[in-house]
Amino acid sequence: MSAPGGRATSAPLLGRDEEPTIFELSKAGRRAWSFRTGGFPETDVEDLVPALHRRPDPVDLPEVSERDLVAHVTRLSSRQFSVDLGAYPLGSCTMKYNPKMCDAVAALPGLAGVHPAAPASTVQGWLALLVELEEALCAITGMAGATLQPAAGAAGELTGLLLMRAWHEAQGRPRHTVIIPDSAHGTNPASVTLGGYQVVTVASDERGCVDMAALHRVLDDDVAGIMLTNPNTLGLFEEDIAEIAAAVHGVGGLLYYDGANLNAILGVVRPGDMGFDIVHMNLHKTFATPHGGGGPGAGPVAVAERLLPFLPGPRPVRVAGGDGDGLAYDWQVPSRSIGRVHGWHGNALVLARALAYIRANGADGLRRVAETAVLNANWLRHRLSGVLDVAYDRPCMHEVVFSAQRLRRAYGVKASDVGKRLLEYGFHAPTVAFPLVVDEALMVEPTETESPETLEALAAALEAIVSEAADDASVVTGAPTSTPVGRVDEARAARRLVATFDARPPAGD
Ligand SMILES: Cc1ncc(COP(=O)(O)O)c(C=O)c1O
Repeated sequence: MSAPGGRATSAPLLGRDEEPTIFELSKAGRRAWSFRTGGFPETDVEDLVPALHRRPDPVDLPEVSERDLVAHVTRLSSRQFSVDLGAYPLGSCTMKYNPKMCDAVAALPGLAGVHPAAPASTVQGWLALLVELEEALCAITGMAGATLQPAAGAAGELTGLLLMRAWHEAQGRPRHTVIIPDSAHGTNPASVTLGGYQVVTVASDERGCVDMAALHRVLDDDVAGIMLTNPNTLGLFEEDIAEIAAAVHGVGGLLYYDGANLNAILGVVRPGDMGFDIVHMNLHKTFATPHGGGGPGAGPVAVAERLLPFLPGPRPVRVAGGDGDGLAYDWQVPSRSIGRVHGWHGNALVLARALAYIRANGADGLRRVAETAVLNANWLRHRLSGVLDVAYDRPCMHEVVFSAQRLRRAYGVKASDVGKRLLEYGFHAPTVAFPLVVDEALMVEPTETESPETLEALAAALEAIVSEAADDASVVTGAPTSTPVGRVDEARAARRLVATFDARPPAGD
């Protein structure tokens, strides 16, 4: 494909030709693998699986050869956009390219082949890895200890709120409300509600930061804490953190740092030094696992000293001087633990990837990650000012929020139309219509992994789309026309979910 902007793209997405489903490819009797039949000792199937647990009829599974299966899956994989294919500037999600070295580490048989229930004595290496990761995350955030169990950012948030609750209850004065700025990620209010608290929203001011007067108005002794995202979801560094920390601590509340945007501050500033009590991180955004796609994540929660006894358990710990069994590492449940927040010890291979990434980069490399992420976002902000409106026109952190409000008013082109058209230029769409406080938001997070040439190509594509909107808006509002899937009814899948496929012809055919 040659992009309308003149840039030859890698034609990442194949054309519109339909790929049959695996059920449609099925031919009775085909197998991906046939096991030899003779030569096995006679086994009575009844000994293996009692009749009670056996199906009367075989499962209706697709029957395909290995060759057809691999071709099918390979074709499907090329109909998707991915971080390996091109720039993925999906704001708030940090969809950066992830080094393959981290995958290679996570695939090591000594890591990947271990059962999570293996006794500590047989997995000392794994425990050492987890302890080292916890220490590294505490050094990065400036906190005293961490749990690695939560399976994602939102799971980390809930864990943090349960810790907040446990701490207040232990002080003998349970509280009922948690303050959240109106620019917060949607998971924040959801986690607060799930954690049994009431949400109190504070507005953002004209700077895009917490409105301090509004904050002071809602502070009282029923406030359990505040959840602050920093940099916030407008891509801006909150300017009054010291005052916020003093004010919230002043009424006996705790400070929760939504550290999902840690990519922007790695090695530069630490939430612990800002006075935060609880921090969650999204390892799947910051440290070598792509966010989204439904894959596993990891949302460790790091805490200040006074919250250590409440952390989920069991935690991996160093055994001072080795224990009686000669173990250097073991599992330990903190004295007032809130219990488990994951069936096992967290999504362990995401944790292994994260440590590989941290070690490979070292302290200097991590700082460079943040500096380059921030530089790239500011370069785009500057390059595109005058092309698109910048929601808050001041230096941003790792992401920049534009508004397509003018395009909508002048030509009927919405932020989501711009995003869909961008796919045809070989880029994933930015986040659209979020944060909610910006009308027609286009939230661009270039990340540190993109080269100056790619950033320029992305800017040129957005510039070309703005021109197209003025020349013939239908080119943008009708896009995409060249991708495997065009415009879909975005509400229908949620309202009328059909999660199964029946390839059999309807009765009577
Ligand atoms: C600021 C912020 N908080 C929380 C989350 C939730 O993280 P997760 O999607 O892993 O649950 C995200 C996700 O990107 C986020 O950007």
